[in-house]
Amino acid sequence: MTIPRLLLLLVFGTIWFAAAAPAMADPPDPPLSGLNWATPAVREMQQDDFANPGMFWLEKGEKLFGKREGETGLACRTCHLPRALKGAAAAFPVVRDGQVVNLDGQVNGCRERHMRAEPYEIESEELLSLTLYLRSLSAGEPVAVDISGEAEPFFRRGEALYRQRRGQMNLACFQCHDDRPGQWLRGEQLSQGQINGFPAYLLRWSGVGSAHRRFRFCDDQRVAEPLPIGSDDYLALELYVAWRGNGLPVEAPAVRR
Ligand code: HEC
Ligand code: HEC
Repeated sequence: MTIPRLLLLLVFGTIWFAAAAPAMADPPDPPLSGLNWATPAVREMQQDDFANPGMFWLEKGEKLFGKREGETGLACRTCHLPRALKGAAAAFPVVRDGQVVNLDGQVNGCRERHMRAEPYEIESEELLSLTLYLRSLSAGEPVAVDISGEAEPFFRRGEALYRQRRGQMNLACFQCHDDRPGQWLRGEQLSQGQINGFPAYLLRWSGVGSAHRRFRFCDDQRVAEPLPIGSDDYLALELYVAWRGNGLPVEAPAVRR
């Protein structure tokens, strides 16, 4: 980033955020999908299966779901009927055996444990296509993330990360996504920062990306060091952010700018 751009960001950021309202720990009421603030063109693209560029990825995921692989020669489909997975993806991430497991973790866990196949690479086209397909089996189902019991400490950690000010702009997620939805930031209208549409097709990426990739992008926005995709902190943050959107319909494939 060039120095003048950074300066502009800092000055602008300081003025804009000087009067930040006190934080609220509750989820937004009501929760609203990012689709709510999308431009009409993006909205139409999402709603038209023929125009939606995410459909290509989804179909690829559907094929992978039926592909026999690994030492066992099993396919996902051998064990899971697609209709039996309706609603399953809407409950992710889950906490199991002392770990946050998101859909990436579930897919790779099934590959390793049940298929004896190599895990997919993080953020690979295969993994994104397959998780997008799993989300599509829950399209329209309400997000229903459980934060009770074993999940609670991870949820608290995610909440703390969501509220932590970071980076050269010294901003927390909530300052953009709870205090300022609807306001404009560098040509974009701020949403609540929900992940009911993730993994999502982003026009700026010309492809599908995970919620963690979006978190990295937002870390860039506040001029903070992004964390690795799949890191414990992003997993805890994903649990918290997903819970904030409990009740929102799963969107798959969602399209965003
Ligand atoms: C400087 C303001 C700013 C901060 C701080 C910020 N974001 Fe964002 N975020 C944006 C902008 C701008 C967008 C794109 C427009 C939109 O959807 O809000 C965005 C989009 C998102 C989206 C995509 C929403 C959708 O429906 O496509 C998610 C998820 C998100 N942010 C999460 C986070 C999280 C988690 C944090 C903290 C780690 C964070 N953001 C911090 C500005 C910010
Ligand atoms: C040999 C059978 C088997 C195969 C093959 C298999 N799974 Fe699984 N899957 C399971 C079992 C058992 C569970 C529950 C316990 C666990 O997570 O290991 C499960 C759980 C899941 C869940 C969570 C379901 C829920 O209701 O929470 C998803 C999603 C899933 N698998 C997706 C996949 C995908 C995608 C593939 C292919 C890459 C796959 N599975 C391959 C046996 C299998």
